[in-house]
Amino acid sequence: MVLYRQIVQKGGEMEIISGLAGIPIAESQVSNIDGARGRLDYRGISIEELVDKSTFLEVAWLLIYGELPTKTQLETFNRDVNLRQSLKFRIVDIMKNLPESAHPMTVMQSMTSILGAFHDGQEDPEYDTITRLIAKTAAITSHWSRIRYGNLPVSAREDFSFAENLFYMMGKKQPSKEIATVLDKCLILHAEHTMNASTFATLVVGSTLADPYKVMSAAMGSLSGPLHGGANEEVIDMLKIVGRPENAKAYVEEKMATGQRIMGFGHRVYKTYDPRAKKLEELLTQVAEMKHDKKMYETAKEIEKHALEKLAPKGLFPNVDFYSGCIYNLLGIPSDLFTPLFAIARTPGWIAHWREYKA
Ligand code: CMC
Repeated sequence: MVLYRQIVQKGGEMEIISGLAGIPIAESQVSNIDGARGRLDYRGISIEELVDKSTFLEVAWLLIYGELPTKTQLETFNRDVNLRQSLKFRIVDIMKNLPESAHPMTVMQSMTSILGAFHDGQEDPEYDTITRLIAKTAAITSHWSRIRYGNLPVSAREDFSFAENLFYMMGKKQPSKEIATVLDKCLILHAEHTMNASTFATLVVGSTLADPYKVMSAAMGSLSGPLHGGANEEVIDMLKIVGRPENAKAYVEEKMATGQRIMGFGHRVYKTYDPRAKKLEELLTQVAEMKHDKKMYETAKEIEKHALEKLAPKGLFPNVDFYSGCIYNLLGIPSDLFTPLFAIARTPGWIAHWREYKA
């Protein structure tokens, strides 16, 4: 992935370093990756601990404000995000006029930018903008999942958690506590990941003092590509092609023989197992049990086994996208909403970097 080329003067010669490889571009306290040991923490707390003990909005607060919220802060934050999950009728009207075939990421990126026409990201209290962005990215995605089929949007419920509302607003029944918890944990695992293409886009646009709606919109555009957040959708396409565990070996061999990539494998920083993939695999086994459907998990596991034989020696292991799509698929979420779910989850991470950079 070539993001940027920097020409460096070295002994009188010009050297081009592609993709910012090895070039530090900012200091950040938001999160830390140990790529060699496969560790990730948000504000000094391991993702394993956060997944086991926190909720998504608690983690969002941690990322944005640097420490875990008090009980009162969290209650207020939950309430304020919930209250902002409705969309103005004019925004819904704009969405109604979009072609039904529009990819949900296109809609999300465009509508997030349009939010800036309705709210003043420079003058409004920052807290309002933050809660609005977190709430409305979820509302845009869930509303679009219904509007595109000619259905009316479903309003958020004040008594629901963020994950419950996300599921419910997509027109699904109130999820069980177990399902909502799985979704919430998936959001935590996608909430932040130090420097990457979309966070870099956040900093580039944020550094011009552009309004935060445009900043988030730029980050979403960057995330949408198949080599970044879009890979989760492609993993499901792969699993559908493979179909059954018995077909995995031939599929992997053919991909390798023709020099193609296995989606959901490899990472710029991790040269070992991505810790998020480990946690997501655990969650997938739980969902497969709950749904009495292990076929997709078993197929993915078999692809992983054969791909690892070829790719592990090159430092390529499953990444966050390998198992997340399987979970969403089992929860009945359409595959073109996987990357928007990633973007909803990553919004607090982008906001945290945007605030840190401004400061
Ligand atoms: N399958 C097979 N070979 C691969 C893969 C893969 N998934 N990824 C990298 N390689 C090979 C690549 O062909 C190259 O081989 P060679 O040296 O023989 O030419 C070598 O590994 C280095 O590739 P690269 O593109 O220079 O490596 P990178 O570290 O810049 O790429 C990556 C990282 C994520 C873009 C890449 O691994 C990839 O394209 N993976 C598949 C897409 C994917 O799963 N993306 C999600 C990334 S994690 C979520 C996120 O951050 O958004």
